[in-house]
Amino acid sequence: MKINIAIDGYSSCGKGTLAKALAAKLEYRFIDSGAMYRGVTLAALRAGLDMRQEQPLLDMLPNVELEFAAHAGRQNELFLNGSWVEEEIRKPQVAAHVSWVASLPAVRERLVAEQRRMGLHKGIVMDGRDIGTVVFPDAELKIFMTARPEVRAQRRFDESQKKGIEVSFQEVFDNLQERDRIDSSRDHSPLTLTDDYRVLDNSDLNPTQQLELALSWVDAILVNLR
Ligand code: DC
Repeated sequence: MKINIAIDGYSSCGKGTLAKALAAKLEYRFIDSGAMYRGVTLAALRAGLDMRQEQPLLDMLPNVELEFAAHAGRQNELFLNGSWVEEEIRKPQVAAHVSWVASLPAVRERLVAEQRRMGLHKGIVMDGRDIGTVVFPDAELKIFMTARPEVRAQRRFDESQKKGIEVSFQEVFDNLQERDRIDSSRDHSPLTLTDDYRVLDNSDLNPTQQLELALSWVDAILVNLR
């Protein structure tokens, strides 16, 4: 018996870390839905589109093909029209435009349809902003992740440093605040905490502790389904 697990929350809350760990432990498939919005953003940047204009981006959409596949021994990495882009979609240039791209209804409709197809047979752990509210409203487990803003900015800053991306702490902090604001105030599918979520604040939890907590929720649900 497999379930779908939806993990939503603000940027840099550790959703991906938890989602990957849960998927590995349960032998489920992990899908990073944010990577798909980043993939569309990268496609637009590569095409040299003016990022303030909606129509050229919508015209480009039918030519954007996104796929998750293994790369260099890692599972579920993003490919854009056949080429590996997992690293490039994490760059500040993409981060600077992705919230706008993700606010466009036509982009969301297209990506949500693809995400729903992936979940048809259960056994998916998907993280994002609208997974429990829009993509899988009937997910058996919905987790809303949160952490204090300065903790999240520090994590994202450390990640950037490790990857050699040149960015200041203040820039990271400001980018996160701005994305939080756009993600939770946009008209279409804003990040929303509804009462069917379990809230996981991991400001003071390490990855092992957060995984244990989430696994205890999974166990309780699976016992009830049997
Ligand atoms: O999780 P992330 O930082 O990679 O997400 C990138 C952007 O995409 C972020 O601005 C929120 C948006 N997003 C979304 O609107 N819906 C999702 N399901 C996932 C991400």
